[in-house]
Amino acid sequence: MTKIALLGATGSIGRQALEIVEAHPELELVAAASGSQSIDGLAPLTQVGGDLTELLERAQPDVVLNAVVGFAGLPATLWALEHGTTLALANKESLVAAGALALDAQERGGGLLLPVDSEHSAAFQCLEGRTSDQVDTLVLTGSGGPFRGRTRDDLEDVTPDEALAHPTWNMGPKITVDSATLANKGLELIEAHFLFGLPYERIEVVLQPTSIVHALIRFRDGASLAHLGYPDMRVPISFALAYPERSATPVPPLDFAQGLVLEFEPPDLDTFPLLALARRAGEQGGTYPCAFNAANEVAVAAFLAGRLPFLGIAATVEEALSEVDGASARDLGDLVEADAGARRLAEKGLSVA
Ligand SMILES: NC(=O)c1ccc[n+]([C@@H]2O[C@H](COP(=O)([O-])OP(=O)(O)OC[C@H]3O[C@@H](n4cnc5c(N)ncnc54)[C@H](OP(=O)(O)O)[C@@H]3O)[C@@H](O)[C@H]2O)c1
Repeated sequence: MTKIALLGATGSIGRQALEIVEAHPELELVAAASGSQSIDGLAPLTQVGGDLTELLERAQPDVVLNAVVGFAGLPATLWALEHGTTLALANKESLVAAGALALDAQERGGGLLLPVDSEHSAAFQCLEGRTSDQVDTLVLTGSGGPFRGRTRDDLEDVTPDEALAHPTWNMGPKITVDSATLANKGLELIEAHFLFGLPYERIEVVLQPTSIVHALIRFRDGASLAHLGYPDMRVPISFALAYPERSATPVPPLDFAQGLVLEFEPPDLDTFPLLALARRAGEQGGTYPCAFNAANEVAVAAFLAGRLPFLGIAATVEEALSEVDGASARDLGDLVEADAGARRLAEKGLSVA
């Protein structure tokens, strides 16, 4: 039996993870957490909000599936890595914000870090444990979101409802808006840098609008390996929970009789500046990625609440990043301070806008 703690059990990833756990008797849900919704009876141990590491201490799981949204997932990520407990990580924001600290914690803990983000799960599978020196480039694919092909003028008045209408993935609201701005690809770029130990110039982003190709690795010998499948998060969730086995899922295999469109195009960095801003924050290092994430969380929440226009999300993040000092964090306390500082700057930008 594998004892699972599911954090973010009421969310999009959380609900799909419950489906996978229910279908597999060898997976035992020992603990579950949400942010505010009641989850009484979902697992022997449950917790709503608060410090999720207290729940993990009580549960002592074999695997932590971190599907909390945002920086709030960070203490649980660090707890799992520090304790050598397998971490199935959907909460990309924690690795983006705390990359260096998280890798140090993993080295001390010695446990597995299995990405649940579909692109990173795909890349992990293509790499099969090969080290970064055998890799030429990692290619992260993205659908381009609902506004692919639009100009900045077209985006001036788009509403949250339009931004939430993702063409290929059905996800929680924050990541869906991040997909529409391409901030999600930016977060994924930084996530990939830390997960696979590749410098930013060897990680490329390309759009593949049908979301069939999830990632591609170009190796130094000229071969490229890609990971293909229908866009369905149950596949990477199942991969992480069953690792190193592969379990059956209800997701059908690719059907070539129905035809597959596999076109690729470069992202439009002028219309969607958050991808380039994330790349720069990643390259600057220190707490710049943490600040990028914090300002983006504030701006996305303001957009969803009708307090900020769509194009204001990138403007708010850019402004906040220009004011932070980006100094490296020595510990979680430093990081929490950097996160709070960037949030304050972003909020200040909102009140001026
Ligand atoms: N959805 C996808 O397909 C997808 C794909 C790749 C990666 N991801 C990543 O997976 C994570 C979750 O995404 P999602 O789409 O599942 O989000 P979601 O549907 O918004 O769900 C978020 C979950 O986090 C919980 N939560 C929020 N704040 C919390 C807090 N302070 N403490 C504890 N729990 C908290 C929520 O609980 P309440 O319901 O009680 O608020 C909910 O269970 C994100 O990092 C996202 O980037 C998602």
